[in-house]
Amino acid sequence: MAERPYIVGNWKMNGTRAMLSEVRAIDRSSQRLMKVEVALAPPYTLIHAVHREVEQIGVGAQDCHPGVDGANTGDISASMVADAGAKFVILGHSERRENHNESSELIRAKITAAVEAGMRVILCCGESEATRDAGDAEAFVTKQIRESLPDVLDNPTDQLTVAYEPIWAIGTGRTPTLDDIAAMHSSIHSTLVDLYGEDHAAQVRILYGGSVKPDNAKELLAVDGVGGALVGGASLAAESFLGIVLAAA
Ligand code: G3P
Repeated sequence: MAERPYIVGNWKMNGTRAMLSEVRAIDRSSQRLMKVEVALAPPYTLIHAVHREVEQIGVGAQDCHPGVDGANTGDISASMVADAGAKFVILGHSERRENHNESSELIRAKITAAVEAGMRVILCCGESEATRDAGDAEAFVTKQIRESLPDVLDNPTDQLTVAYEPIWAIGTGRTPTLDDIAAMHSSIHSTLVDLYGEDHAAQVRILYGGSVKPDNAKELLAVDGVGGALVGGASLAAESFLGIVLAAA
């Protein structure tokens, strides 16, 4: 497992220039917490502004178009978000799979484009409550990962992070049991070993996401196989996001 826990804030459809003060506070505090890798994924409109503000934390995008620059009104290519300062892209988030009907095939194409533009990918995966209740969560998630990832990645260690986000835990205040998280992360790791070999799989961090807060972060991050967190609501304010970063330190 990679040595440093990775704490990533996904701002989703939130963020104005007034929130750059929160970014500065997160960046300043993160400079004193070198044992944790910290990053933020603001909306497209703030990527460059956040990139210019920070010295320590990473900046990423929440999506990108799979194609090259051209006649796609309103879309943003991987090379464009990289040009704006993004060092990673979150792809396959359940909100995009659901709201934009994104298939694993489309996500695979986006991953290829992001990697070709020199960025790391955070591939999201996760099951619905019905799938969890039916006992099919691990089969569903590992199938989702196999269908979303390219057969070949030049260097999965540097190019790939996975985020397990049970859909029913996102924004709900609910989380799986620690045993269920450990079992899922173990299944995801085994899938990565099968796809890319032990050496690379050992270095690919598997984040947990879904109602991570300062008061539950320590126990969630202590679960075997959890390499960090992908944080939504609690990442919008420096105080709560830093509470999670501190729990990882
Ligand atoms: O991508 C992270 C997000 O889906 C988790 O959201 O608000 O439950 O932390 P939240």
